[in-house]
Amino acid sequence: MNARTLSILATGTLLGTLVIAQGQAAQDPPAPQEATAEQDPASSPDATEATAEAMPHVPTPPLDLRRIKPLQGDAVAGKAKAEVCGACHGAEGIAIAPLFPNLAGQHAEYLYWQLQEYKRGNVPPSTMTPLVTDLSDTDMRDIAMYYASLPHNPPTPPAAPAEPSSTEEGATDETPATPIDPALVAQGESLYLDGNPAKGMPPCQGCHGGDAMGFPDALKPDRDGHVPYAVFPILRGQQHDYLQTRLAQYQAGTIVDSSTDKVMNSVGHRLDSDSIAAISAYLSGLDK
Ligand code: HEC
Ligand code: HEC
Repeated sequence: MNARTLSILATGTLLGTLVIAQGQAAQDPPAPQEATAEQDPASSPDATEATAEAMPHVPTPPLDLRRIKPLQGDAVAGKAKAEVCGACHGAEGIAIAPLFPNLAGQHAEYLYWQLQEYKRGNVPPSTMTPLVTDLSDTDMRDIAMYYASLPHNPPTPPAAPAEPSSTEEGATDETPATPIDPALVAQGESLYLDGNPAKGMPPCQGCHGGDAMGFPDALKPDRDGHVPYAVFPILRGQQHDYLQTRLAQYQAGTIVDSSTDKVMNSVGHRLDSDSIAAISAYLSGLDK
């Protein structure tokens, strides 16, 4: 990690601290059925503000994400609200370092419900925990719509021509690429596409798509207008270190706040450090 990255991280942490300092008593999260069944503004977390004080410290039941509707929100408003997020997730939603997830082109529904989970506070505390304290339900919708609207693949930077490069000494701005071992990538591809029957590990592509672009047709509403597979995330080209961290969490079973967390946890406990390393190498290398 270079000095610039570190200073950005320090800024992020400082901002997080400020957010905590300004935060008022946490608003109560929505009752799962209300929040998920319909995208009705009246059932949004904002609407429950008045009852917040009445319900201290009651562990909320997991969110039921099987009956969600396509997300509504304002991507233009979201862009302005997401300015602070760019410090780690990148101005175009492509993370500045392999530790942070890319958000560009991810399903809005997935992003929104992840933000809700950070705010509910039932998932392991992380960098994100203080950063969502002040986000309202509307903010989360808008920001999720904004990142979903960005191209999943960042525009290729103009192929560095004969342009004289920066003479600033020591200013190596490129993120050091994780060295990729082709044998590891091949093993990861095999696990991703075929699973490991001996260990009871299902093929990842069964839910995340053969091209790792998420469940096929995930955004097409079913006959009841629900889009349950929109919260099955796109994994293609996701950041290497982030994938490793997240998969280790599923392996340990520490992310348990929704019906979809349960789905992925049941896969996660079939993983081990070797398969996690292989799959992370494979997925992060796609699209490069
Ligand atoms: C200081 C760095 C930092 C900043 C600033 C930041 N994030 Fe994050 N974000 C992270 C990290 C680290 C993770 C992974 C956290 C984890 O594993 O729990 C993450 C995860 C996420 C995820 C989950 C992605 C996924 O694929 O599951 C979303 C959504 C997200 N951030 C949105 C935001 C938004 C919106 C903002 C601005 C309000 C923001 N982040 C600001 C560091 C940051
Ligand atoms: C039965 C369906 C299913 C299978 C099979 C499956 N997943 Fe998942 N996966 C999910 C769901 C649902 C989520 C969202 C979980 C959540 O909200 O925490 C998810 C989330 C993830 C995430 C988090 C992505 C992010 O941006 O934070 C990763 C990484 C992941 N899966 C990798 C894998 C890998 C690797 C495999 C194969 C070993 C796999 N999945 C197999 C359903 C599945």
